[in-house]
Amino acid sequence: MTYTSTTAAIPEARAIPRHIAIIMDGNGRWARQRMLPRVAGHKRGVESVRATVRACIERGVEHLTLFAFSSENWRRPAAEVDTLMELFVLALEREVGKLHQNGVRLRIVGDLQRFGPRLNKLIAEGEALTRGNSRLTLNIAANYGGRWDILQAVNSLLRERGADEPVTEAELAGRLCLADTPEPDIFIRTGGEQRISNFLLWQLAYTELYFTDTLWPDFDAAALDAAIESYRRRERRFGRTSEQVAEAMQKSAATETSVKP
Ligand code: IPE
Ligand code: IPE
Ligand code: MG
Repeated sequence: MTYTSTTAAIPEARAIPRHIAIIMDGNGRWARQRMLPRVAGHKRGVESVRATVRACIERGVEHLTLFAFSSENWRRPAAEVDTLMELFVLALEREVGKLHQNGVRLRIVGDLQRFGPRLNKLIAEGEALTRGNSRLTLNIAANYGGRWDILQAVNSLLRERGADEPVTEAELAGRLCLADTPEPDIFIRTGGEQRISNFLLWQLAYTELYFTDTLWPDFDAAALDAAIESYRRRERRFGRTSEQVAEAMQKSAATETSVKP
């Protein structure tokens, strides 16, 4: 495991978030406002994904996790679910090559068993092609649920060892979908709703939450910058007092100047 959990160690403060997690919400409302079918909103949403990936690369964000389809989204009308799956196939077919050219490593996280063989093949191919890239890791959460993630981690631990020893935080974190990724610095939800909707329940423990009324198809680089600006103004205390945070900042500034030639 390469990252340190925010509850085990305090991460260093950075002006640009290292990991951004986004609930891309509001596609349906965007379409309804224009008297269009919901699918038109989902299609436009793919363009916002493209713009956001580009903006993250330009700003030096290392990890971007996008919630594309939740474990509860199967409750939607079958026709909408089918269209979303088709769009997912299309997006993989069209975008993987470009992502690879741009140095993006693609990963799909979630319970992939429920997807058909075609989708699974495209996912495996896309992940294999981009495995060696390191400019930005793009995690797409599909048929993902935060509770599912925690449960699959627990079950994978139980399969491997007896239940008589207490499980440590690091052991459990090591089995989660994003085990090798630092926890999100900022969580963005578009579309005005202020809830987590079963996204990264474990990983969001100390993430800064940011909600915007902007609908996902309208989200762009400027909207991302507004979120990052809000993040910059936050004081991330991780359980400490304000005074302790200020002291830690002074210390790290002092070491930074002392190593300069
Ligand atoms: C988010 O937009 C996309 C998915 C959940 C797949 P919605 O489809 O939830 O849009 P609203 O919330 O109905 O506007
Ligand atoms: C959350 O959006 C899931 C995704 C964006 C994929 P929803 O629109 O499904 O969330 P709820 O149901 O309104 O909470
Ligand atoms: Mg929604």
